[in-house]
Amino acid sequence: QTIYLSEYRVPAYLVDTVDLRFELFENGARVHSTLEVRRNPESDAGEVPLELDGDSLILESVALNGAPLGDADFENRGDKLIIGPVPAKFELSVVTWIEPQNNTRLEGLYKSSGMFCSQCEAEGFRCITFFPDRPDVMSRFRTRIEADKGAYPILLSNGNDVDRGDLDDGRHYVIWEDPFPKPCYLFALVAGDLVEKRDTFKTGSGRDIDLRMYVEPRNAEKCDHAMDSLKRSMRWDEEVYGREYDLDIFMIVAVDDFNMGAMENKGLNIFNSSCVLASQETATDLAFQRIEAIVAHEYFHNWSGNRVTCRDWFQLSLKEGFTVFRDSQFSADMGSPTVKRIEDVTLLRTAQFAEDGGPMAHPVRPASYMEISNFYTLTIYEKGAEVVRMIYTLLGPDMFRKGSDLYFERHDGQAVTTDDFVKAMEDASGRDLSQFRLWYEQAGTPVLSVSDEYDSERGIYRLTVEQSVPDTPGQKAKKPQHIPFALGLLGARGESLPLRLEPESQDAPTERVLELTDTCHTFEFHGINERPVPSLLRDFSAPVRVRYSWTREQMLFLMSHDPDGFNRWDAGQRLAVDVIQSLVGAPKDAPVDARLVAAYRQLISDSSLDQALVAKMLQLPSEAYLIELAESADVPAIHKARERVLKHLAIALRSELVACYRRNLEEGAYQVTPDQIARRSLRNTALAWLLQINDEEGRELALRQFKESDNMTDRISALRALVNSDYEADRSEVLTDFYARFQDDPQVVEQWFSVQASSDRAGQLPEIHALLEHKAFDWKNPNKVRSVVGAFAGQNLAAFHNPDGSGYDFLADQVCRLDDSNPQIAARLVTPLTRWRKFAPSYSNRMKAAIERIRDKPDLSRDVYEVVHKSLAD
Ligand code: ARG
Ligand code: ZN
Repeated sequence: QTIYLSEYRVPAYLVDTVDLRFELFENGARVHSTLEVRRNPESDAGEVPLELDGDSLILESVALNGAPLGDADFENRGDKLIIGPVPAKFELSVVTWIEPQNNTRLEGLYKSSGMFCSQCEAEGFRCITFFPDRPDVMSRFRTRIEADKGAYPILLSNGNDVDRGDLDDGRHYVIWEDPFPKPCYLFALVAGDLVEKRDTFKTGSGRDIDLRMYVEPRNAEKCDHAMDSLKRSMRWDEEVYGREYDLDIFMIVAVDDFNMGAMENKGLNIFNSSCVLASQETATDLAFQRIEAIVAHEYFHNWSGNRVTCRDWFQLSLKEGFTVFRDSQFSADMGSPTVKRIEDVTLLRTAQFAEDGGPMAHPVRPASYMEISNFYTLTIYEKGAEVVRMIYTLLGPDMFRKGSDLYFERHDGQAVTTDDFVKAMEDASGRDLSQFRLWYEQAGTPVLSVSDEYDSERGIYRLTVEQSVPDTPGQKAKKPQHIPFALGLLGARGESLPLRLEPESQDAPTERVLELTDTCHTFEFHGINERPVPSLLRDFSAPVRVRYSWTREQMLFLMSHDPDGFNRWDAGQRLAVDVIQSLVGAPKDAPVDARLVAAYRQLISDSSLDQALVAKMLQLPSEAYLIELAESADVPAIHKARERVLKHLAIALRSELVACYRRNLEEGAYQVTPDQIARRSLRNTALAWLLQINDEEGRELALRQFKESDNMTDRISALRALVNSDYEADRSEVLTDFYARFQDDPQVVEQWFSVQASSDRAGQLPEIHALLEHKAFDWKNPNKVRSVVGAFAGQNLAAFHNPDGSGYDFLADQVCRLDDSNPQIAARLVTPLTRWRKFAPSYSNRMKAAIERIRDKPDLSRDVYEVVHKSLAD
């Protein structure tokens, strides 16, 4: 049941037009589909039968050129409808019956809080009707929706609404036509009782685009931020990529039950409510930023994904990697580029590196898969974006833009491959990217081992960089990759030294992007009068691990002098990691390096520093990152060591923290600006630290902030600080108060769940079980499952890795329970267990046993089967 890229064949038949008619009822839906089919001239398959994909469909009838087919004319295998022989060109009509109201997998057409909605990527369209469900079959869609007018006044699909009217029995219909051919994974349908928010956008060429958001009436006041984000995205894509919107209407719908974040259906983007709805009172700064980024991401897909789409699902990163790169450029332009880079790299190094070093490691362009839903991964998205970013770095902004223009022009309306993308970049720039293509083919995070020597007599600083790419499942003995390696050298007073690669060169730059292509390179820098401190991999110019034996003095030096903001932050992280690691398993009274305290004191007290960067620098490396860096992780020991450092810092810096809190108290009205975000972040970090040391003043500040704040960032930060403190009475009081205040808002209740489930104080197993019994918890809602089960296993690491194995057994139980109802979500939840090899033996044995228990569950879904079997394979 494994599918291989090497077995790709062009489709034997193409579908030029799709005419759909949906009859929506409470007990199911009837789908009438009429396809204009013709043999593909590019295919050498000959006169083979037509094969259509299907899943969970009840077939009512089939007709060819208007003539009903009998049972002998086709074969219905459930997952395939095989019809043949068929003429070279014909019209096929298929009628199916489906039950959206019972669809708990949330793939295809389903119901979410009373409305009908759809999710077709990757292979959900086959749950709606029999169809060649593959992205290289592109068709023009016409969709007629019929439903009860009272219950479903709003009926939406892709494109333009061309006709509407009333029917008998209080029913009505709307007809939608999408002029752009598209793969069926971009089809969408929504029917519900929704309020409409309207706005307009004038394109660069002067066209007026109708912007519409559809949400449940209770969410009517939470649309402004998404709408503003959309307009900024549309403007930005015109300015930076020359991409204008192509339809007359652009619609966004919010639904509560959604497996992923959002979906870029042509002209009708559908969002998880948590990724689109926001108000000052209910959404945090982080949520505001996330919404802006996701709205932009889905909008940008209109070109990178929809106008130019993927030939097959092995090419998923063609649209996802490129679009994540585009949305990260956008976010950098809207806020602080350094902060955005820090956030992206944190995610990459914590989670994608772990994936790349684990049993599910796969290349950015995988060679095989069992279930494509399992490949919507950090590697496809985040590493894929880094790969595009490296092309950007190698080519420079102007050539990159030439390359993207060529790509869009050359492939408009086509379904193409990552190779076509790289080819366009090569053709536009004249650069040879043949070795660079290995980034798409080889899995694993390359390691750069850097060593240096200083020749004081000749004034030469020599840097040697050795590259190795680790083995990953099914891939050994890899070739060296083409790596852009940005660096600078700092002199003793923090000045940037000119980088002379030739002895005589004049006007040498102080920063260079060196290109690594061999296993080993030595670079010589001339005219260096004292031993410099190297600033390596600036701005994280490639998704690699750098090994270099920095001393703590050098880290401290870079932390305060590196002109590269990212590396400044990174030096601080490295120092904190070093200090924490040295305390893992150390005696209780082992000292904490006083230089770390001094460095943090400097950060907190010096208000002339970039406060957004300081806010990031104050965050200690997460437990997840420390685990990722460990050889054989003992999580409770890592947790203790980190907590020890945090408390030590908080005690030593107590008065600075109080001062920092007071200095950053809000002035003026709440706004989501980089400056205000930084102030809130600093203030709330100070608060969290003070509560870790049972500080009475901190407690009072937190209680006051909890009661009086006018925004969710401050309110939930105070809540979290109190929940994670020893003030037990306060903890239950604020939790009760918060729930009472927000119980009618599902997105806030999800945050309330997750604050508890991710807390080592409030989220031990008995409390987790109580949350699962809570009346607001709902197994059918992926957000609720993520906010309790996902938060526990993914963020409450000391509790999850309880030495008695109870956390693992708990997760295995929940995975088995979800496997029948929603296999996609079940397969995602298993992830922490699949990393069992990463942990110290007493842990890993218990994790493995939990995974084996999942493996032995009867009727395991293909989704969970793939993940579990790959994690157990040796
Ligand atoms: N294309 C969507 C996005 O990245 C993701 C949808 C994936 N959905 C899924 N069920 N696998 O924006
Ligand atoms: Zn995407």
